[in-house]
Amino acid sequence: MMGVKRLLLVSLLGVLAASTVAGGSMPGSPSNISRDDPGLQRVVLGAAYSFNNQSNDAFLFKPSNVIRAQRQVVKGVRYIVDLEISRTVCRKRDNNNDLSHCDLQPKGRLQQTFQCHFEVWLIPWQNQTKTQVFFCKP
Ligand SMILES: *[C@@H]1O[C@H](CO)[C@@H](O)[C@H](O)[C@H]1NC(C)=O
Ligand SMILES: *[C@@H]1O[C@H](CO)[C@@H](O)[C@H](O)[C@H]1NC(C)=O
Ligand SMILES: *[C@@H]1O[C@H](CO)[C@@H](O)[C@H](O)[C@H]1NC(C)=O
Repeated sequence: MMGVKRLLLVSLLGVLAASTVAGGSMPGSPSNISRDDPGLQRVVLGAAYSFNNQSNDAFLFKPSNVIRAQRQVVKGVRYIVDLEISRTVCRKRDNNNDLSHCDLQPKGRLQQTFQCHFEVWLIPWQNQTKTQVFFCKP
């Protein structure tokens, strides 16, 4: 039963991919997308959360600039993103989990920005994301 449902969704996605072709872009090739893309906003926020989880900084970081955002339809949607992530004034130990209330650090000793590249795969029928590449450098 599960197998049948899954197959159906996979073929639905095939239809979606085909309509993208009709819209003019090559199937399966990455194309630039708007900063307002809801899926992009979700994966960018997800990247900030995993960055914070992995860093041992006293402060939380948040996305400060999206440099490149591309989307590719391949058995789901793959997002390819270059972004800048900067230190905020929120301390980690305050357990603030809403980054939108955290301002960036003002100019000074604590101001810092990393350049990050990540590739995340959204699998809509599982409502799941898989991070394939994620690295940051100062
Ligand atoms: C944070 O990282 C730890 C291991 O490094 C992992 O077990 C945990 O699930 C992560 N938490 C989140 C919210 O990603
Ligand atoms: C896609 O975006 C990047 C970075 O913003 C830009 O350099 C590139 O020219 C764009 N490509 C197309 C086909 O618009
Ligand atoms: C998918 O997951 C996100 C967060 O994990 C949640 O906010 C959203 O409501 C979920 N959507 C569906 C359709 O289950």
